[in-house]
Parts: sequence; C-alpha cells; structure tokens
Amino acid sequence: MGRCFKPRLQAGMDACPNRSEASIGMKVLPMLGFPKRSKNKSEAPKPSLEAIFDQYEQGKPSHQNAIDALPGWSCAFPPAFKLKAGKLPLYADDRINWALQTFGSIAGKKVLEVGPLEGMHTYMLHRQRPARIDAIEANRLCFLRCLLTRQILDINTASFLLGDIQAWLADHEEVYDFALASGVLYHMADPGEFLKRLASRTNAVFIWTHFFLDEAMPKDDVRRRPFSGKIETRMIEGVPLRYYERSYQLANSNASFCGGMKDRHFWMHRDDILALLEKLGYSDIVIRDQDLDHPGGPSFSLLARKAPAAS
Ligand SMILES: C[S@@+](CC[C@H](N)C(=O)[O-])C[C@H]1O[C@@H](n2cnc3c(N)ncnc32)[C@H](O)[C@@H]1O
Repeated sequence: MGRCFKPRLQAGMDACPNRSEASIGMKVLPMLGFPKRSKNKSEAPKPSLEAIFDQYEQGKPSHQNAIDALPGWSCAFPPAFKLKAGKLPLYADDRINWALQTFGSIAGKKVLEVGPLEGMHTYMLHRQRPARIDAIEANRLCFLRCLLTRQILDINTASFLLGDIQAWLADHEEVYDFALASGVLYHMADPGEFLKRLASRTNAVFIWTHFFLDEAMPKDDVRRRPFSGKIETRMIEGVPLRYYERSYQLANSNASFCGGMKDRHFWMHRDDILALLEKLGYSDIVIRDQDLDHPGGPSFSLLARKAPAAS
C-alpha cells in the first residue's frame, strides 16, 4: 500500500495511506475490534457488566455519535454536513471527476465499485444517478463505515456488500457498464487474475493504482523497502506478468488499515498492466496523471473501455 499521505486532493493521491507508517495512534473499541472469530464460543472473552453499559450512547442522538462509535475513519464528510470523521476529502476526488467526464454519463447505468473504503467515491457515483451501484468491500470495519456513510449521505442507489471482490466476480453473472477500481489492484494477492475476472464483468473500468517500474524506483529508493526482491512470472491469457512480492510490514495492525486481505501481495509491472488490459479486450485505454515520484510508489490512473458490441 502506498506510504503516501498527501493532504491534498489531486492526481496520484492514495486514498488509503499507510497510517501506521505515518504513526497515527488509533483506539480500537473493544466491542468493535472484530477479533479473529473463534469456533469455540467458550473461548470468546466475556465483556464485564460495566463494559456492556459502555455500549450505550448517553447523549442526544446524532450522526456524529454514530461516526464516533466506529474507529479508523480516513475520509472527511462534505463540509455542509458539519461532521468530524477523517481528513481526506474523497467526496470531491478529481480522479473520479475525470473518470466520469471521460467515460460519459453513468445515469441509468449499472456500476460496480471495488473497495469503497468509507463510501465517499460511492457518493460521487450516486450523485450521477446510476441505476444501481454494487460496492464490494472486504474489510469489516470499512464496510460498517460505508453503511454509516450510506445512511448519512442517503446513498440510496448503492448496495454495500461485505466480502471478497474476487469471489463476487467469479459468481456474479451480471455485466456492468462501468467499474471503479481505485486503490485496489496493488493490494491483490493475484492482481492479474483480478483484472481477468473484472474484465469478464465490466465493459469499462477506471483504475488508479501503484505499479512497479525499475527505472522509477532504483535499488536505494526507500519505496522499495516493502518488496522482498522476489519476482514471479504468471501467465494470464497468454500474457506473461511480472509479480513483485511485497509486504505491509505490520501496517495492518491499525484500525484504519485499508489494504488488501493478505500480507503477501504483489505489484504488477506498469507495462504488464496495460498489455493485459488490452488482451482482455479493452481496446481504448486513456492514461492520466502518471506520477513516478508518488511517495507510495509510481502510480497512474486509467480508463479502459471495450469497443461497443456490433449490433
Ligand atoms: C487503498 S483502499 C482504496 C479506497 C478507495 N477505493 C479509494 O480509491 O480511495 C483499498 C480498499 O479496498 C478494500 N479491499 C482490499 N482488498 C479487497 C478485496 N479483495 N475485495 C474487496 N475489497 C477489498 C480495502 O478494504 C479498502 O477499503
């Protein structure tokens, strides 16, 4: 995951900074910390009677109470709502504005969002009045924050679903008009397989991602530290893909962690991402804001579209 934490909303910003590297302390509430699930009920710690009363909100009902009940917020709410959560203004992310302008109207269209984090991009999509948004989030805390955002911002075109996007793409038959996959490719344990499954389910996709590029990250570059140096080659659809093994280096010990599902994950080589997308049928690829100096690692945004089917 990117180590970046640019306090500005513009091209190349990683929405999900590696907070532990940024040394942000986060109190995880005991009842909401989602300890590893135990099969044996007797192993589960029993909350004390006082702790149960701590679960009650004593004050005047408000959205702020609900926000404060969940730890780990990264994103801010639109200022008009006068709420305090995280700091990142992703409700007005210019990468998403660019994607929507370049794609054209999503009004009445079926949209897929991968890894909505706290639902701020979902809000941006929702404001364009799509027919429906399926937003798939694997992290339980992120998912709960998304539900809260849905309620507060009244995102009634979106269904947030808790689970792994790979499983959703494998099982779900529907083909979407547009997919948003921002900040997710470089968190995947099998990124090429993810792109392959995604391509079978969407005619257009916006991707913001980090990638590997030797020239951009020389050997002494600090951004190389999370990489083990191991490079695997995977063949997908006849395209050889270089996978660069990487670890979160304990960044996942924080409630605001919003990376992938496994510590062992892989970044793809820049050129392999493009070669695979083309092979998967995306004949029209527009690249925007490539940033080789991004503090989290080289990155770019792209919109990939398939040619419309001949009628
Ligand atoms: C870096 S954040 C990006 C958030 C947002 N999309 C953005 O661009 O700002 C990655 C998000 O993807 C989620 N995620 C990671 N792996 C996933 C998976 N296999 N299935 C669904 N969501 C996943 C994380 O929990 C997190 O919310």
